[in-house]
Amino acid sequence: MIRVQVPATSANLGSGFDSLGIALTLQNQVWMEESDSLEISSKDEVPIPTDESNLIYWAAGRLYELCGRRLPGMKIIQQNDIPMARGLGSSSACIVAGLLGANRLLGSPLSQQELINLAAKIEGHPDNTTPAISGGLVASAIEGERVYSVSVPVAENIRFVLFIPPFELKTEKARAILPAQYSREDAVYNLSRSALMTATLFSGKTENLRVAVQDRLHQPHRSGLIPHLDQVFRLSYELGSLGTYISGAGPTIIALADVADTGNFTQYALRHLEEKGITGWRLEIHQANATGAQIAFD
Ligand code: HSE
Repeated sequence: MIRVQVPATSANLGSGFDSLGIALTLQNQVWMEESDSLEISSKDEVPIPTDESNLIYWAAGRLYELCGRRLPGMKIIQQNDIPMARGLGSSSACIVAGLLGANRLLGSPLSQQELINLAAKIEGHPDNTTPAISGGLVASAIEGERVYSVSVPVAENIRFVLFIPPFELKTEKARAILPAQYSREDAVYNLSRSALMTATLFSGKTENLRVAVQDRLHQPHRSGLIPHLDQVFRLSYELGSLGTYISGAGPTIIALADVADTGNFTQYALRHLEEKGITGWRLEIHQANATGAQIAFD
């Protein structure tokens, strides 16, 4: 079987709505092989669709179809470490696993660029799928059918402190709440901050991060969908966050922190939340994943 490893991704980074994303050192693994029938199972307790609606299988089928081949069936085993519907790119990870796995099983007919284009087309925006494939901090723009993107490494000392809530938030719901139009002022506000975010994470000039995470396009509209958001933001800054933002469409909240300050978070964050009656949240600390999705043979 082939084993596809796909990283979790955090889109937007606050100000870079639908354009910035980063791959994290948290990943799903998928074992795949062609088969005469469909057999989907999981290595963990996470409930997954085991029929044709399974997103990995569906994406693999799309790629076979594009290559003029019929997919008779497939054996798929999933290990789902990326929490679902939490703003950490779990559906992108499934799409990318299906596409990359199918491409390898067919002898790699599509280039990496073509896979990036196809994944973004399926997902509808490129800011999770592109870093999931390329790794690193990725800025991307769609022009026509093509994704133009660049992946850069992130300064060594930056850590991503994930506050993962016990509830889900579907991306469709978090997108439906956004306004249809924005003012020129708001557009400029975000443009300046997302440019600052890219250059800051790359260079390590971390004093900029508190401003670079600010945004007027999505976070103010989504904050009401995430119970306890204000308390988590406030606590993260008390514990030394350099900049805190809603990961993707939420509901996970990420604090960017210097590696030297991560001990504060592990020691105090959950305890302080629980003292305020905010229970069930999980804390995970990750780094940027520089390599993106990988394929191995088991
Ligand atoms: N950029 C997307 C959004 C990410 O904010 O809706 C969610 O997948």
